[in-house]
Amino acid sequence: MTSDRRLTGSRLDESDAATNGNGNGDGHGSDLAATRVMAAPSLQPQTRAANPLVQMRLGIFGTGYAGLVTSVCLAQLGHTVTAIDKDPEIVASLSQGRPTIHEPGLREVLAANIEAGRLKFTTRSEDAIAGSDIIFVCVGTPPRSDGRADLCQVEEVARTIAPQLDGYKLIVEKSTVPARTARWISWTIRRLAGPEREFDVASNPEFLREGTAVRDFLQPDRIVIGADSERARSLLLDLYKPSFDCPIVLTSVTTAEFIKQTANAFLAAKISFINVMSDLCEALGVDVATVARGIGLDPRIGGSFLNAGLGFGGSCLPKDLSALITVAEENGVDSAILKEVQRINTARVERLLAKLERALWVVRNKVVGVLGVAFKGNTDDIRGAPSLSVVPWLRAAGANLRIYDPAATPRLKELYPPDDRLVYAESACEAATGAHALVVLTDWDEFRSLELERLRSVMRTPIVVDGRNLFKPAAMQAAGFEYYSLGHGDVAPSVETPRVEV
Ligand code: UDX
Repeated sequence: MTSDRRLTGSRLDESDAATNGNGNGDGHGSDLAATRVMAAPSLQPQTRAANPLVQMRLGIFGTGYAGLVTSVCLAQLGHTVTAIDKDPEIVASLSQGRPTIHEPGLREVLAANIEAGRLKFTTRSEDAIAGSDIIFVCVGTPPRSDGRADLCQVEEVARTIAPQLDGYKLIVEKSTVPARTARWISWTIRRLAGPEREFDVASNPEFLREGTAVRDFLQPDRIVIGADSERARSLLLDLYKPSFDCPIVLTSVTTAEFIKQTANAFLAAKISFINVMSDLCEALGVDVATVARGIGLDPRIGGSFLNAGLGFGGSCLPKDLSALITVAEENGVDSAILKEVQRINTARVERLLAKLERALWVVRNKVVGVLGVAFKGNTDDIRGAPSLSVVPWLRAAGANLRIYDPAATPRLKELYPPDDRLVYAESACEAATGAHALVVLTDWDEFRSLELERLRSVMRTPIVVDGRNLFKPAAMQAAGFEYYSLGHGDVAPSVETPRVEV
């Protein structure tokens, strides 16, 4: 399936250079080639009708956060999607329209597309491979203990696809993978499928944030298509172009893979930068939120990703940063800046715990309420969350914990079942009841709007250590709290020793 339609959206195209003889076959020559921006009638991303000019049959491996959102949203665009998961329970739940993850808007789009007959789930890979135009690889790439990305599941998909190729297939990486993973996929399939089989491997990285993933997919700020053949590039343009009017960046496969890794490393660096500034803000007695606003209004800097606090967690930023460090090291490139970003982030939890310890003096036998265990608000995901360091530290220090999260407690319960020193509460107020201190670990909106008077009245001592800078110090003071933040101001009894004049 090819397309001769002209592109009308904004398009940053390095592919022309790649096909003009500058490429060296591994995407490197083309990576260094000049890019150019095509006509940009509208830079406003928007979704067009769910009625693509070319309806495709798509097979999707993996129904985790990226895979499920991708499956549901591609079906919403009008394509026919078969998603595979090895776990029959996940397949059964999704087939009945029950999402296996907490993601705003997902349930509705899932149900509508199952109902419309455009989306089905299966444990059988052959159902998704046979007759499909494009196969997406959305399986997990978790971090290994040495910092590299574990690509076992990606390799397994390649080995599964190879013997089942029934005509030309385009295999597309969606999972975040280190640059040049596509080559390994390609070699694996070629070895097992034989030289006569026709296929391409392309990269089309996802930029989905948990909590807003459906919106991010349906209203993308850009689409990156990394393809080394015209056939693969055309297929992916046919898939997206009729539905979206956002910039499309056309690159080689390796460039697309690297764009994703670089994007996440840059976001991580931005967060670590503002966190160091927040420590300086504390030393200078200024508010980091005001500083962030003051610098963020400069379009060269931009206002997002400048929330200081406990730093970045989740399944992507920490993992992609450590994978990038190993890529840099393997290529003999200085990785010091990346390692520093990582070091600063790790130190955030220590800083919060030091504040808590200073506020409580003795932690043993104190009741500590924990607000939020998800790595950020609007998700039930605890991967890379500060709670995974804070909870064991507090337990080891002998605290009694009362934990509340609007969505993620079931996940933490699997790791830390309730006992006589750990209670899971049904509300923030219940977690605060009888507490000597509250620590805020997640930026859930529901915490921002807590009734402060009521909160104080149920606590044993009104101490709040806010790892996400959700509250205004003046409001906390007015409500009678002793309040500690990370760069946003502290309201605490004076601990200054009076000077003795001699
Ligand atoms: C990220 C990328 O944003 C997304 O493009 C990619 O595809 C997947 O990884 P996600 O992990 O869902 O998305 O979360 P994100 O919103 O990026 O936040 C990452 C972490 O940074 C969270 O722990 C969040 O609390 C933290 N963060 C974010 C800050 O500490 N400060 C900020 O200003 C923004």
